Amino acid sequence: MKILVTGKEGQLGQSLHKVISASAKIDNDDGSNEFTFVGRKELDLSNDSNINHYFNSNNKFDIIINCAAYTAVDKAEEEPELANQINHLAVKQLAEAANRQKSKLIHISTDYVFDGESSNPYTEVDETNPINVYGKTKLAGEETLQEIMPTNAIIIRTSWVYSEYSNNFVKTILRLGKEKDEINVVSDQIGSPTYATDLAEAILTIINNKDYKNKERPTKIYHYSNEGEISWYDFAKEIFKLARIECQINPISSSEYITKAKRPVYTVMRVSKINNIQSNNWKKSLIGIQSLI
Ligand SMILES: NC(=O)c1ccc[n+]([C@@H]2O[C@H](COP(=O)([O-])OP(=O)(O)OC[C@H]3O[C@@H](n4cnc5c(N)ncnc54)[C@H](OP(=O)(O)O)[C@@H]3O)[C@@H](O)[C@H]2O)c1
Repeated sequence: MKILVTGKEGQLGQSLHKVISASAKIDNDDGSNEFTFVGRKELDLSNDSNINHYFNSNNKFDIIINCAAYTAVDKAEEEPELANQINHLAVKQLAEAANRQKSKLIHISTDYVFDGESSNPYTEVDETNPINVYGKTKLAGEETLQEIMPTNAIIIRTSWVYSEYSNNFVKTILRLGKEKDEINVVSDQIGSPTYATDLAEAILTIINNKDYKNKERPTKIYHYSNEGEISWYDFAKEIFKLARIECQINPISSSEYITKAKRPVYTVMRVSKINNIQSNNWKKSLIGIQSLI
């Protein structure tokens, strides 16, 4: 099987590369899956003709995994057209290319498609109502994908992603904790942290399932995060505790931390069991990353 992965420089792209390399060594993979990882240089999603040109000038893929996205939540408020191009219009084109090639498409979306007004974990069928440009463009991407590919696609909504790679909350908090004696962290936004390696493993489980390869199924949305819920403030406290960093953390409210984009207050999602595999609790995954902590 030929598998294309976009967003190779991102957190999920790099995590997928890591778990695929590890599983090839562990399982003595015979190389029947051939992965092509592409970044902005090889496949720039900000330009329609690039996308068409890429698919016209490469061999057909059996699966496309779209890990690329415009993820700068605040900057998206200033660049709504670019965010829309990458998170929505490029997804439309990827879906059209997948249809032409008869390939399957796995696309990643976000908890920010919800408005955060709920007090219970969101399910896949709960009403969406994004409150910032990033969330709106990601929802538009989901909708266009479902329209163009009523079958053969999977949308995985995830949340609060961190990893050893790129920039993320865990790395920022560790850096600040080493630099400062005291920091303020928002305590009234609740969500579920997700270790990108866990999500990458879930994706690998999906594509390695024989039924997935061989059967045509209706397009479906899954929610996948680590289990459990926490505020950014409590998450930061836990990171310092594990890393044995002595730094005072003060809880502050969202109204005291003004950002360009509004953030939903509560975005915990009820986690779907993908191929009956239970997601890790967030704390178990965080403790597991010795290289970070
Ligand atoms: N990070 C989170 O907390 C979070 C939360 C919920 C959902 N998600 C979703 O999870 C998925 C993976 O996120 P992530 O954390 O891995 O994001 P990330 O680290 O920001 O990676 C996104 C990748 O997309 C690439 N990209 C951006 N614009 C591009 C363009 N014009 N052409 C080609 N590639 C482009 C970036 O390339 P460069 O490296 O060249 O910039 C980057 O490598 C995304 O769909 C995201 O919306 C993330």
